[in-house]
Formats: sequence, C-alpha cells, structure tokens
Amino acid sequence: MSASLTKLETLAIHGGKPVREKLLPYGRQSLDDSDICAVIEVLKSDWLTTGPKIGEFEERFASWVGARHAISFSSGTAALHGTAFAAGLGPGDEAITTPMTFCATANCILYQGATPVFADVSHDTLNLDPQKVSPKLSSRTRAIIAVDYAGHPVELDELDELAKRHKALLIEDASHALGAEYRGKRVGGIADMTVFSFHPVKHLTTGEGGMVTTNDARLAETLRRFRNHGIGSEARARQEAGQWFYEMVLLGFNYRLTDIACALGLSQLEKLAANLARRREIARQYTAAFRDLSAFTAPAVRDDVNPAWHLYPIRLNLQMLTSGRAEIFRALRAENMGVNVHYVPVHQHPYYRERFPSQENYPVAEDAYERLISLPMFHSMTAQDVEDVIHAVGKVVDHYRKA
Ligand SMILES: Cc1ncc(COP(=O)(O)O)c(C=O)c1O
Repeated sequence: MSASLTKLETLAIHGGKPVREKLLPYGRQSLDDSDICAVIEVLKSDWLTTGPKIGEFEERFASWVGARHAISFSSGTAALHGTAFAAGLGPGDEAITTPMTFCATANCILYQGATPVFADVSHDTLNLDPQKVSPKLSSRTRAIIAVDYAGHPVELDELDELAKRHKALLIEDASHALGAEYRGKRVGGIADMTVFSFHPVKHLTTGEGGMVTTNDARLAETLRRFRNHGIGSEARARQEAGQWFYEMVLLGFNYRLTDIACALGLSQLEKLAANLARRREIARQYTAAFRDLSAFTAPAVRDDVNPAWHLYPIRLNLQMLTSGRAEIFRALRAENMGVNVHYVPVHQHPYYRERFPSQENYPVAEDAYERLISLPMFHSMTAQDVEDVIHAVGKVVDHYRKA
C-alpha cells in the first residue's frame, strides 16, 4: 500500500472503515485434531498426573533443545521459582535481571527472599546489556537472570563469563525464545538453567505450563524435588515398586505439570519446527514491508542469532510523529489490530516502586517503554492477516507522520 493511497483513507478512530471487521489478537494458540485426540487419550488412561507422559514430554523436549535434562513445571513462573531455588538464592543474596520483561522474571527472586538488582538493556535488542551488568556484580550476586526479549537471544557467552567470574549462575528466561538459536545452537543447553513457558501465546502450549532445561544433573535433581513438595521419589515409581515410603528432603511446592498437559505438549512439539518457520516468515514480511517507513524502528536482529519471534515489537520515532504512543495505539486498535505493549519496566510497577523506593533509572528500558507497540505475531496468522497488519500500520503511521 503506497503512502499516497493510505493517506486517502479515513482512520477508523475518526469514523472510517476499519482495516478488519474483527479484532486480530497479538497472539493466540493453534490446536488441531491431533492435539485434541492426544489429550482425550490421557483422559481415558490411568494417569492424569504423575504418570508416564511427563517423562516422555521432558525427554523429547530436552532432546529438541539440546539439553541433558528437562524438568516440567505447572507454569513458566513456577519454573522460574524453581531456578531461583536451585541457584541457592535466599535472604541477603542478589540476582541481577532486566527491567524489560514480564514481572514474573524478577518476582522469582523475591519469592526466595533475595533482592532483585536491575541493570539496563541494550538499545538495539532491549536485552540485558552485559556492560551494564558488570558494575552491578558483587559478592552477594548468586545469579544473573537474563531474558531473550521478544525471542531474540541475549548475549549468553558474555553473561556466562561474568557469572562464572563471580561464582554465580546464569539463568536464561527463554519464555519468548523456544527454538531461537544463539551462535548456531538452540537455546536450552547453553545457560546453567533455561526456562520456557507454554502459555497459549507461546510457540508451544500446554494451556499453562513451563520447563527448565539444564546440563547439570545436580540442579536437575533439585528442580525435580522442588516441583514435587521437596519429596525425593515419584509416586508412580513407588507404586510400581510396591512401596509406600517417601521422605521430604527440602521445602518444595506442588508445581507439577499434569499428564493431560504433557500429552498436549508432546503433540504440539511435533509442530514446533513448522510454527517457528511460520513466525520467521511473518517477521521477514513485516520487516521487508516496513523498510521504508522511518516513523518507527522495526526490531533489530544481531548477526549471531536466529530469533524465535514470540513478539514483533516496533518502536515509534516520536519526534517524527504528531501524536504519542497512546493515540497511535488507540488508532491501531480502532482498525481492529490487537496490538499490545511489552513491557511496563518491572521497577516501575507500584509494588516495586513501594518496596524499592530508591531504585535508580534505566534510561534505555524507560525510553523504549514510551515508544513500544507489539504487532500481532502468531504462527497461525494467514497471509491476509499479515497483509492487514501491514496495511493498518501504514495507514495509521502515515496519518500521524509529520509533514
Ligand atoms: C519473559 C517471561 N517470563 C516469564 C513468564 C511467565 O510465564 P507463565 O505465564 O508460563 O507463568 C512470561 C509470561 O508470559 C514471560 O513473558
């Protein structure tokens, strides 16, 4: 759609015809008959939870990402809590993390009674910047918890080196990045522990669900116990051995993922490669279509990564526009584009402001937050959906572009 054509269109927010009749969400699951059959099969079986599907899903997942161990959890948040526990975080300890994330990333530090220390992000990727992490490291640092924002891997080698120098662990929150590649390797087997989320907007869904992958057998054992009340043995193993005795060896939680969810996860895993390919194709089309639009910046991709594209966040160049993000967001919504904003920087949430009133500023994250808009991005988007997004963005941005 050329600029001169879009200029003629009245915006839906001003009473014009919206680009779409119904809202296109920013993300959603796609389930097919094979997913539904896999779940029904488990519903008819003996094991709804603590059964054989859990180990099967964990093994297949570990092998898919290239890690030795995978431990399933009831959500990505529970999985993050597991990693904070396994890293030994406790009162008096610190973990360094990013403000540009969903609050669960930092909350897991608080669950363990430790203190989150934020470091600012890199301007291009909005991922934790190793140079900003370095001065925050101290004898209290037990972990660096980095996020692959939008599905673009963080600088894992640099962060790992910083963590090792301080005898801290590197935890990668790859909730956005299942299937992403860093220097030729899939994320999941690189950091000390990697966390994934299976929420419906993600690449693979189990409804709610999460996973931690690691190559460290000791961490894997702690994680398995933590998600099962701190109990050392599994119920099915005891039943099969004809034994009843069990012991609780640490204070854990019931963070188990059910067999119902794992059956769905196994079935979804079959489609993961195709889902990733589709998301990469959509990102390619967006980036090509937006190449000549200077009113916003499309997401950057560094040379040594292949992102998984959970999100496609654009950043408005406000100095070139006649309105701010709020008005442009409303105009896109009026076109029935289910745009969103990722994220309110964590330290700006009221809970964090009240609990840590002396927080410093994180200028890159704060500036990005004022300008971010996530466009629809999910693997079942049709060619028409993609065209509609490109049309709506061109129409709205062109209207608000300074002459
Ligand atoms: C970066 C990040 N970390 C953690 C989570 C929490 O995952 P879950 O919703 O599975 O608990 C999310 C959820 O969207 C997320 O985006």
